[in-house]
Amino acid sequence: MTNTTDQNQSLTVIILAAGMGTRMKSSEPKVMHHIANQPMIQRVIASALTLKADRIITVIGPDMQQVAEAANAVIPEDCEHHIVVQKDRLGTGHAVKVALESLDTQYSGKLLVLYGDTPLIHAETLQEMLFSLDQDHINGAVVLGFIPEDAGKYGRLVVGEEKRLDAIIEYKDASEAERVIKLCNSGVMAFHADVVYNNINKINNQNASGEYYLTDMIDILVQQQKQSTYIEASEEEVMGINDKLQLSQAEAIVQNRLRERAMLNGVSMVAPETVFLSEDTRFGRDIIIHPHVVIGKGVSIADGVVIKSFTHIEKAEVHDNAAIGPYSRLRPGAVIGKRAGIGNFVEVKNSTIADEAKVGHLSYIGDAEIGYATNIGAGTITCNYDGYHKHKTIIGESAFIGSNTIFVAPVTVGNQTLTAAGSVITKDVETNALAVSRNPQRNYQEKAIDIRKKKMCD
Ligand code: UD1
Ligand code: MG
Repeated sequence: MTNTTDQNQSLTVIILAAGMGTRMKSSEPKVMHHIANQPMIQRVIASALTLKADRIITVIGPDMQQVAEAANAVIPEDCEHHIVVQKDRLGTGHAVKVALESLDTQYSGKLLVLYGDTPLIHAETLQEMLFSLDQDHINGAVVLGFIPEDAGKYGRLVVGEEKRLDAIIEYKDASEAERVIKLCNSGVMAFHADVVYNNINKINNQNASGEYYLTDMIDILVQQQKQSTYIEASEEEVMGINDKLQLSQAEAIVQNRLRERAMLNGVSMVAPETVFLSEDTRFGRDIIIHPHVVIGKGVSIADGVVIKSFTHIEKAEVHDNAAIGPYSRLRPGAVIGKRAGIGNFVEVKNSTIADEAKVGHLSYIGDAEIGYATNIGAGTITCNYDGYHKHKTIIGESAFIGSNTIFVAPVTVGNQTLTAAGSVITKDVETNALAVSRNPQRNYQEKAIDIRKKKMCD
């Protein structure tokens, strides 16, 4: 086997995703279901991109516009992308034929066929298939095989000496003797593109399912003295997602991979199995994550941050050495500055908390800017929504906001201001001012005794 793939050969990846996935019991196409907060189709595209594919052809069914959009959203400009609609789902061979026929140009180079519902394959495994295709004697195909615990209804790989692949027999068409074969077809196949162009029309549907099987290509190639081979993957890698139970199993596998990746890159997790991440979570180093933390889509956590238990973060940035939690909620647009602190039962949405600022307890900070080193007292609320529109609260640097202050936005508070606890701030406050807006306290001497006596007589 050579060590590098032939750099001069272009790579075309065809992703088969025309199946609606009825077993998902969903109105969404199967490949739109999420794993680690990413639609399955985007995961598969990400592996194609890791392989530096020159073009990707995504085969979808009718009325699957959302799949086209999700695919387009992650494909960079330097990768050609075609969406092809397969009107009638006549089989994997037909899907590949429709994909190639829809294009004006006949591509040379390599062609890799992936399934949209098989999203756990490591890019390294696919790379290994492409390396294998580079071997001089392999002028047909390379198939990704696996040995499952229960071979069930998978297609079986019929192999000869030195990993020669002679045929793939679909379960329905297999004899008893063939059904005993343990080595199965994952569905992923790599070809020299010209071989596919020359033979795709030779595939027929004379089989137990009445479908055009892509797997028949191997037998067609054997008849032309073209040699194919296979490589083996783990069952976990080639797991297909057909229902929501399998979706949850895939989620667990991906979560483990994400945790491992984060820990190996310098994140400490006290109880990793209780921490949930997203595919796009970005971490610095020397981060400590305590048990029971959920990190949704679009989050970046910088060096030295500590996240304490029961914290939920999505679409937010946390800068160096900030301390978050326990029980914090960072919602979209939350930007937490360096060495800032967000404490128990604090919700921050679309707000910037500057470096060294603290929001320690029981607060809602929405559509706000909190200045450098400002301290926000317990129970402070920004009233950002008047029922019609959102408004901003701007608080300057080194302010000291008394407990239970209510800011009725829009309102601006200057640097070094104080607000008295329990104040409702409806007007702007100038730098260095103290704002008080509450009834003055009155004490009635001995009144408590009178009240107690009265109560006892009642
Ligand atoms: C296929 C393989 C089988 C293999 C199994 C692994 C064939 C003939 N059989 O069987 O050897 O063991 O996968 O899971 O290839 N699709 C289309 N258009 C179609 C048909 C399918 O886009 O007309 C897509 C599906 O959406 C899916 C993938 O191709 O993503 C596989 O199709 P599926 O019907 O699941 O094939 P299997 O019968 O499972
Ligand atoms: Mg299947």
